[in-house]
Amino acid sequence: MYEYFPIIAVGAIIGLAAIAFVLAYALMKNKKAAIGFDRHMSDGEIVRRLAGFAKPHIKAFAAVLLIMVLTIAYDIISPVITGKITQMVADDFELSRLWTFVAIYVGILLVSVACTYFQSIILQKIGQRILSALRERVFAHIESLSHEQLNHIPVGKLVTRVTNDTNSISMMFTHILVNLVKNCFVIIGIFTAMLVINIELTLMVLCFVPFVILFTVVFRKFSRKAYREVKDATTDINTYLSENLSGMKITQIFNREEKKMSDFRVKTKALGKSKMKEIFVFGIFRPMVYVLYMSSVLCLFYLSGKGYIDNTTFLGQTITAGTLVTFYMYISKFFNPIQNLAEQFNSLQSAFASAEKIFSILDMTPAMQDEPDAIELDTVRGDIEFKNVWFAYNEGEWVLRDVSFKVKAGQTVAFVGSTGSGKTTILSLICRNYEIEKGEILIDGINIKRIKISSLRRHFGQMLQDVFLFSGTIRSNIVLHNDDISDEEIMAACRYVNADTFISKLDGGLDEKVRERGNNFSAGQRQLLSFARTIIHKPSVMILDEATANIDTETELLIQDSLTRMMKIGTMLVVAHRLSTIQHADNIILLSHGQIKEQGTHNELLAMRGRYHKLYMLQYHAE
Ligand SMILES: Nc1ncnc2c1ncn2[C@@H]1O[C@H](COP(=O)(O)OP(=O)(O)O)[C@@H](O)[C@H]1O
Ligand SMILES: [Mg+2]
Repeated sequence: MYEYFPIIAVGAIIGLAAIAFVLAYALMKNKKAAIGFDRHMSDGEIVRRLAGFAKPHIKAFAAVLLIMVLTIAYDIISPVITGKITQMVADDFELSRLWTFVAIYVGILLVSVACTYFQSIILQKIGQRILSALRERVFAHIESLSHEQLNHIPVGKLVTRVTNDTNSISMMFTHILVNLVKNCFVIIGIFTAMLVINIELTLMVLCFVPFVILFTVVFRKFSRKAYREVKDATTDINTYLSENLSGMKITQIFNREEKKMSDFRVKTKALGKSKMKEIFVFGIFRPMVYVLYMSSVLCLFYLSGKGYIDNTTFLGQTITAGTLVTFYMYISKFFNPIQNLAEQFNSLQSAFASAEKIFSILDMTPAMQDEPDAIELDTVRGDIEFKNVWFAYNEGEWVLRDVSFKVKAGQTVAFVGSTGSGKTTILSLICRNYEIEKGEILIDGINIKRIKISSLRRHFGQMLQDVFLFSGTIRSNIVLHNDDISDEEIMAACRYVNADTFISKLDGGLDEKVRERGNNFSAGQRQLLSFARTIIHKPSVMILDEATANIDTETELLIQDSLTRMMKIGTMLVVAHRLSTIQHADNIILLSHGQIKEQGTHNELLAMRGRYHKLYMLQYHAE
């Protein structure tokens, strides 16, 4: 009876562990909260698409697999040699044989170390290539999205896609997949070796496998959820950060640091909590597997010790001291990959979640694409016509209602009206930044939907309400990656729009550094730079949405002067805030709530004594 005691003890330990595990599972299952991100794609589809990224590196992967077999040889052979040495020490010791064993051992160890080194070098290379290819692909795709689509995705989310998510896919290829394959090989290899050496002991080890599988299945469920939560919380923090770092100055101006900080704290706490959950799940799983491992080692000692002393045989195999040592080493090498496999399956799930998020970006068809037979415009005269145009940013909320007007080539047309009346919207529709719902917009008599977007944008110079400057230099912000433009041309453009005065006062001149968003320049200076940027690209039609930001009187005069000059270059559509600027416009269109209320020259509109007259009198008296 006593001889069965160890077996009973081990059985009890495993049984208790299993019960505890199932109990924990049941408890946690009740608390299943909504997971922020549900998978829509099947694993098969994700694998198929991911394989596309690995395809160019198939040869390198094959090399890695080949090398891997050599590294595994160490795992399988070293316990045998150790066992043989033990056996020799137990039986009769011979120094020369010991040296042979040591030499073989050191030999395979060196080969294994070298192989591991080369394997990781190759993998790192593949990883970096896949990573940059993926990043470029995502970035290029984001570039192709329409304004409307971009409006709907927070920048922080996009940043996470391009950085974290691409990274986790590249990690999947270089670490997870490779180790997954390696662990499978190791498990199969060790299992075969064990079977050859001793069937009885192998069967004993096998008894533990169902428990491992049970633990793994339960573990997978939890960890998948934990991974998702960590991912969602990370995206959340990134989104919050990117927005609030940009708006930090507003936070400071309105003394909202405390409030923002506490919002941020909530988010970091949420991330910390989900991270803790992940660690907790792993924290339970690893000791569980360890219990199994230790139990099987105890069983090994008991069975092999008993077998050795009693000198019993099982299927004609006896147990020796060497067998005991070899099995002891095999068992530790056997449970490790099993534990790793379970964890890697989870990382794989996490990578799949990332992949799905990236694919959801890549699958957004650019809302605005050229028609197959779109026309390339070599030149644009500059006739523009709006025919009964209706437009809404959000369905049902009309921003423009039945807007019709004509602009003849070379004319200057000005839009006036209160804030929110639709001036900026009209200007952005001309360049097809958004798609209209009803009506037609014609350029030189051609519907803009039939013109290539790139050719439309090449001939139209858009100067937006908020001037965006990139970090770089004055020069790089004016030419925007067009290196064919000489400094003389740049300076000529700057002179034309009156930007030369302030540029020549800068220490660096055209090479003066522009910080992120151009925050080291005044609003007026930024506006003048945007004028220079536009006219240097020689547009046929110029579209100007004048900044409302505070501009000093001196700069304002410069801006007005350069505006008057630019009006002579070609067709110009302008939103100006000072009616004096647009007095000479060929046509002035007054908008209210997305409808044209009045239209005509300055004098005609004044004579009508309507809304324009009222607006004019207001400004006139204000001065
Ligand atoms: N990207 C957008 N998404 C949704 N609504 C918008 C967007 N841009 C502007 N709007 C809305 O469209 C209306 C007209 O805006 P806008 O053309 O910018 O006016 P204006 O330039 O005359 O001040 C406003 O009511 C504004 O709220
Ligand atoms: Mg506007």
